[in-house]
Amino acid sequence: MKCAIILAGGKGTRMKADCPKVMCNVIFKPMISYVIDAVKEAGAEDICVITGYKHEEVEAYVGKDIKTALQQPQLGTGHAVMQATEFIKGHTDDEILILNGDGPLMDAQTINKAYTYHKENNNSITLISAIVDDTEGIGHIQRDENGTLLRIIEHKDANDEEKKINESNAGCYWFNGGDLLYALGKITNNNAQNEYYLTDTLEILINEGKNAGAYVVENSEVILGANDRKQLNDLNTIMRRNINTRLMVEGVDIPCTDGVMIGKDVKIGNSTVILPNTIILGDTVIGSGCVIGPNTYIDSSTIGDNVVLDNCKILDSTVEDGADCGPFVKVRDNSTLKKGVHIGNFVEVKNSTIGEGTKSAHLTYIGDSDVGSGVNYGCGVATCNYDGKEKHRCKIGDGAFIGCNTNLVAPVKIGNEAYIAAGSTITDDVPDKALAVARARQVIKDGWVDVKKPYKEKK
Ligand code: UD1
Ligand code: CA
Repeated sequence: MKCAIILAGGKGTRMKADCPKVMCNVIFKPMISYVIDAVKEAGAEDICVITGYKHEEVEAYVGKDIKTALQQPQLGTGHAVMQATEFIKGHTDDEILILNGDGPLMDAQTINKAYTYHKENNNSITLISAIVDDTEGIGHIQRDENGTLLRIIEHKDANDEEKKINESNAGCYWFNGGDLLYALGKITNNNAQNEYYLTDTLEILINEGKNAGAYVVENSEVILGANDRKQLNDLNTIMRRNINTRLMVEGVDIPCTDGVMIGKDVKIGNSTVILPNTIILGDTVIGSGCVIGPNTYIDSSTIGDNVVLDNCKILDSTVEDGADCGPFVKVRDNSTLKKGVHIGNFVEVKNSTIGEGTKSAHLTYIGDSDVGSGVNYGCGVATCNYDGKEKHRCKIGDGAFIGCNTNLVAPVKIGNEAYIAAGSTITDDVPDKALAVARARQVIKDGWVDVKKPYKEKK
C-alpha cells in the first residue's frame, strides 16, 4: 500500500504572508492543493498532513478525509515527520511518500517513476533529485567518486566546495515505513539551524547498510518550491504555461497567452478560442466552439457550446449553447442563460433564469427574475427587487415585450406576450397579451417658450 506524509507546518517567514506558506496561491489555488492532488493521483491511499503555523487554516482546507498531525513548535522537517509517528506505525510494512507542501509542481508521474525505482532496487529510502543552475538554499546531494550516495548537506551547513554541488534534493522521498521509523529515532539537531533535518535519514540508513537511491528527474522544474513571493511568481509562470500547453494539446485555441490564466480543474472543449486577459477558475466547464474573451473572468460556471463571452464576468452561473454576452456584462449568483440568449453591453443578471432566445441588448438590471423565452427587454430596464429589507422576485411570461426605461417593482408578474409601455413603473401584475402603461400622460403646453422667456430675462 502507498501512503503519504505532506509537510505543511512551516510559517514561511520570507513569504511575509498572513497565511501558512503552503496556503499561498499558485494560479488561484493553495500550493498544498497541487501536492495533495499529485499524491492522490500517484495512488496514495492514506495521507497525513503535518500542520503547525495557523494549523486551523490548513486543517479546514484539507478536509476530513485527510489525516493531520500537529507540529508545535516547528523544529525542522525531521521533527515534522516525527509528529506522524502514530501514522507511520500503522504503515511499517508499507512504502511512505514524504514531500514538502510548498512544491506544487511535483507530479504523479515523477512520484511513480521514483516509486518503481525504489521497489526495483529494494531501497529503504529513495529521494528525488535534480541537476539545477541555482544552488542557493538547496539541500546538496553528496556522492562518492563512484556516484554512490553519501548524504544530503543543507546549504547553510555546506562549506564552499559542497556549495558547488549542483544536484539538489527535491524534498520528496519514498521510505520503507519501518526503516523511516527507525531513522527518525536517530536524528539530532546538531547543525547550523539547530533543526531536526529529515534529510539526515539518508546517511543514517546508509550507515545501517540499507539500500538508498536517488531518482534524478529529467525536468528540474518539478522540484521547484517557493520560499518567497518572487519564487511564487516563478511557480505561477510555470504552472500557467503548463496548463495552457495542456489545453492547447487538447485542441483549445489560445492564439496569444498574454494574461490568460486558467485554473487546473477547468475543462474546455476543443476549438474554443480563449482571447487575451481571460481568467477562468474553479470547476468551470466550457464546451466547444466558444469564443471567450478578451478580458473575461469566469469562476465556477458551466458554459455550453458555441457561446460568445466578450468582456464578461460570469460567476457561479450557467450559460447554455449559442448564447452570447457582452461587451461589459456581469452574470452572477446561480443565474442561467438558456440557449440562444443575447445579453448586450452594460447588463447585469443576478440570481435569475433567462429563457431561450430572450434578448436584453443594453443597460439593464435583471435581478431575482424568472424570465420566459423570447422576451425582449428594451434599453434601461431595471428590476426593483429590493424593498430595503427583503428581495422579491419577478416573473416575466414568454414573448413579453418590456419597453425601454421600465421599472419592474417586485414582486410582480408580467403575462405571456404582454407589452409594457416605455417609461412605465410597473407595480401590479400584467395579464397575458395586455398592454400596461404606467406613466403620466404627455402634456403639451402651446407657446410655453414665449411665456418662459420674459421670466428668464427678468432674472
Ligand atoms: C528542504 C530540504 C532541502 C531541499 C528543499 C527542497 C530539509 C532539512 N531540507 O529545505 O534539502 O532541497 O526542502 O525544497 O528537509 N516544515 C514543517 N515543519 C518544520 C519545517 C518545515 O512542516 O518544522 C515544512 C514546510 O512547511 C515546507 C516543508 O516542510 O512545506 C519544507 O520546509 P522548508 O523550510 O521550506 O525547507 P527547505 O529549507 O526548503
Ligand atoms: Ca522550501
